[in-house]
Amino acid sequence: MQSGKRYHIVTFGCQMNESDTEVLDGILESLGYEPAVTKEEADLLVLVTCAVRKKAEDKVAAFLGRLRRWKEEKRGRILAVGGCMSQQEEMASYIKKNFRHVDIIFGTDSLYRFPQLMEETMESRKTVVDIDIQEGVKREGQPVNRKSSFHAWVPIIYGCNNFCSYCIVPYVRGREKSRTFEDVVEEVKALGNKGYREVTLLGQNVDAYGKDLPDNVNLASLMEELNRVEGIQRLRFLTSHPRDFNENIIKAVSGLSKVCEHVHLPLQAGSNRILKKMNRGYTRQHYLGLIDLIRNYVEGVAITTDIIVGYPGETKEEFEETMELVERIRFDAAYTFVYSPRQGTPAAREKDNIPKEVKKERIQKLIERQKEIGLEINRQLEGQLVEVLVEGISRENSSMLTGRTRTNKLAHFPGSPGLEGEAAHIRIKEAKTWHLQGELEYTKGQKLKAGVLE
Ligand code: SAH
Ligand code: SF4
Ligand code: F3S
Repeated sequence: MQSGKRYHIVTFGCQMNESDTEVLDGILESLGYEPAVTKEEADLLVLVTCAVRKKAEDKVAAFLGRLRRWKEEKRGRILAVGGCMSQQEEMASYIKKNFRHVDIIFGTDSLYRFPQLMEETMESRKTVVDIDIQEGVKREGQPVNRKSSFHAWVPIIYGCNNFCSYCIVPYVRGREKSRTFEDVVEEVKALGNKGYREVTLLGQNVDAYGKDLPDNVNLASLMEELNRVEGIQRLRFLTSHPRDFNENIIKAVSGLSKVCEHVHLPLQAGSNRILKKMNRGYTRQHYLGLIDLIRNYVEGVAITTDIIVGYPGETKEEFEETMELVERIRFDAAYTFVYSPRQGTPAAREKDNIPKEVKKERIQKLIERQKEIGLEINRQLEGQLVEVLVEGISRENSSMLTGRTRTNKLAHFPGSPGLEGEAAHIRIKEAKTWHLQGELEYTKGQKLKAGVLE
């Protein structure tokens, strides 16, 4: 036991890393470490890294450089680097060689062996590296320290089998491994009992849930079961893939009361030639068909996406095909990225031949147009009454609360603290590109009188 020692974790990357961090947090606390609010107060600092684009890795490398001083400032401090970046062999070696003040280098799977790695480094006083990937799901039985007391990330499938040509994720997260139906249901029931209101089911490819399990279960049947869990008010799922996304999932979104009306369906590109080169396994026609199906079934649904510009060989016309789909589909929001070559992926063997300026021009054009479309869509909500789940006090203005609509839009409205985790109904007064501004009308049947809850 490490009584009196304190830890701090800095997380980069996606929700899967957020979720992994909650497990690591639980493991460290079970070792007797106490949480530290800042790294200055910490004896143990852990970085959970991302490798999806070069920028993400550069950020970590710059941070690691600055941490030399942190390490020297106090004797006995331990610095650990885990996650997707260090899972790559060449990156683990690079970190070991260039940042000698790092004590532990661990991967996405060896997270569960962190206690042993701590012991090893403390005994040997040498850098310990463990990036082995072992079969099976190890989350069961692990302590989880959740950041929020009302929203929970619940991973249901780890890894990815898709091997999109540009993507590092399958190499750092391994093959698809679903948790059992019973384990997930049990976890969500326990969350409901503890007062959690909202659950986001996570997977790199969440639609593939159950494919690797012997029993005949899938994302739709799982959500059907979870829809019955008492206490839980909202269910979400991330991230979908157009190859596996299907009518059953759409029916679950439309028919199950707790499943929120939001689908995140990465498009990546609008040209069939580029989609093929990306190994995405669908055409633009198939994608458009899915969008039609979603909109036919689910009234008021929000659809968001991911798009990459500047894939090797992407012509001006092919980029325009992406723009044309953005125009036609009208996404609520799009996360847009400039292609970044990732060592070891098939795309990285192709020449990254689109000049930087052209990539920049393309992404700016895309962002600008998408911003206009997003705002136009949000404006349609002006004057409407929407349900939000209150997340807390706004970061910019302490007299404002923030919450999310079922369609996953951020909303700010005046209100007093204490409503965190509650469902509230707000009237939308003004729509912006990235958020909505509203006024509270009532929470859970309570009416407001002159701005005060009765
Ligand atoms: N599993 C999820 C998330 C993958 S990473 C999914 O399949 O959608 C999130 C997004 O990052 C991807 O959707 C893609 O748009 C983008 N991305 C992945 N690799 C990239 C690369 N090498 N360069 C630029 N963007 C990339
Ligand atoms: Fe990467 Fe494609 Fe898997 Fe998403 S589906 S994680 S983009 S390989
Ligand atoms: Fe990054 Fe790993 Fe997520 S590479 S996007 S943190 S799965």
